[in-house]
Amino acid sequence: MSTHNVWTHKGTFLLAAIGSAVGLGNLWRFPYLTGENGGGAFILVYALTIFAVGIPILIAETMLGRASRRSPIMGMRFLTRTHGTYRAWESIGWLGAASAFLILSFYSVIAGWAIHYTWQMLTGTLVGADAEAIGAGFDALLASPGLLTFYHSLFIIASGLIVGMGIHKGIENGLRILMPALFAILLVVLFYGIANGDFAAAAGFLFTFNLGDLSLEGWLQAMGQSFFTLSLGMGAIMAYGAYMPSDASLSRTAFAVAVIDTAVATVAGLAIFSLVFGAGLDAAAGPGLMFVTLPLAFAEMPFGGLVGGVFFILVLGAAISSSISLIEPVAAFLVERFDLTRPQAVFAMVLASWALGLLTVVSFNTWAEGSLFHTLFGRSAFDFIELLTNIFMPLGGLLIALFAGWALTYSEVMKEMRTSETWFQVWRFLVRFVAPAAVAFVFLRSIPQVEGYLLPTVGALIIVGAFAVGRTYPGKGRQER
Ligand code: PHE
Repeated sequence: MSTHNVWTHKGTFLLAAIGSAVGLGNLWRFPYLTGENGGGAFILVYALTIFAVGIPILIAETMLGRASRRSPIMGMRFLTRTHGTYRAWESIGWLGAASAFLILSFYSVIAGWAIHYTWQMLTGTLVGADAEAIGAGFDALLASPGLLTFYHSLFIIASGLIVGMGIHKGIENGLRILMPALFAILLVVLFYGIANGDFAAAAGFLFTFNLGDLSLEGWLQAMGQSFFTLSLGMGAIMAYGAYMPSDASLSRTAFAVAVIDTAVATVAGLAIFSLVFGAGLDAAAGPGLMFVTLPLAFAEMPFGGLVGGVFFILVLGAAISSSISLIEPVAAFLVERFDLTRPQAVFAMVLASWALGLLTVVSFNTWAEGSLFHTLFGRSAFDFIELLTNIFMPLGGLLIALFAGWALTYSEVMKEMRTSETWFQVWRFLVRFVAPAAVAFVFLRSIPQVEGYLLPTVGALIIVGAFAVGRTYPGKGRQER
């Protein structure tokens, strides 16, 4: 069954894809990972992957969605049947659904923190507070499973309500208000950072490249982050692409998404590190960078409470425009496959992800260091889930690149791309060789660093993928390559 749904305007896919891409990944994760990994070196790997690997895969993923006009799981099933390829390629859809659950589960918990801080900022609770008080406040939030669950529930319910209203009334209308407001707020925060912080130090930190600074796990994190920030390899872009009008340009749109997403991350990084360095604070604070270091910077600055409050509203808005794109692929699948109504499908997806999110909640308190989970897996459940997504997303992207580059024929793809021959050749070369090689390189480079038991798992997944490529059998008239 096809969904027959198409975005109202030609530009809506762009809006939706940017809404999905710009999120906690840009505002929270990018700055803290950069801070932990020593600045420029991390950004170099991140930027290279975005442009050499991310954009080609973004084009491929959108194309698969638009060509199938179905949710990722049903869409991949449809494409493997109609193009006579090996059925193992359907794993792309399932891997994506698994990633969506995993990501939404922790995404919603972290976004919940932003609800807490919006409230604290706007009520002026943190104005003038010192490092100790702000640190203690964050620790107290993390120590309370009840409070974390409350915020996590609020956020996921709000996201579910938007998706439940449908792609036109809910997603499109929501984004049309949200996105322009977000860009305006981001600029306010940037100017505030320039006026009150140390912009030169921030720029120096972000743009001084020294690859030697990057640890082995840093390579994996940088690549994982470039997939994460573009929402790649897990079906979000495929699901949105399914609603894209046939006459919109795939490559131009993908390029715009990547450039804007990178620009937002850079601006957020500049603004946040200006404030952090201006207040003489530490860049390597980890996930707490936005929630401890930044509030501290705001606490000491003029109108800090107000600007801080507005900043956390930006974080929340960006997070919600991303979380809806995590719900959509799975919800659309449940509607297509089991004939559920949209609200029922959204409810099922959100409930399951909410429950999984409780693992992230307890990672910060009852199951923190020393618990059984820690002993078994060597890290908290939250870190474990994040690590899995760092692997699943590039892996999904790799499979998408291989499918679009090798399993589909030249003319099948050209028909969808409708672009100049030269650019088409460049793109095809990138998805066939460059993207797979880059992902494999980073995996091989960093994975020995990661816990031993993961290696067999990932190895097995890669072998399954390779097997799928090998078994792609020619259907009728598929001699051409
Ligand atoms: N791209 C989003 C961000 O940067 C996260 C995301 C990942 C959203 C995957 C959808 C799918 O915050």
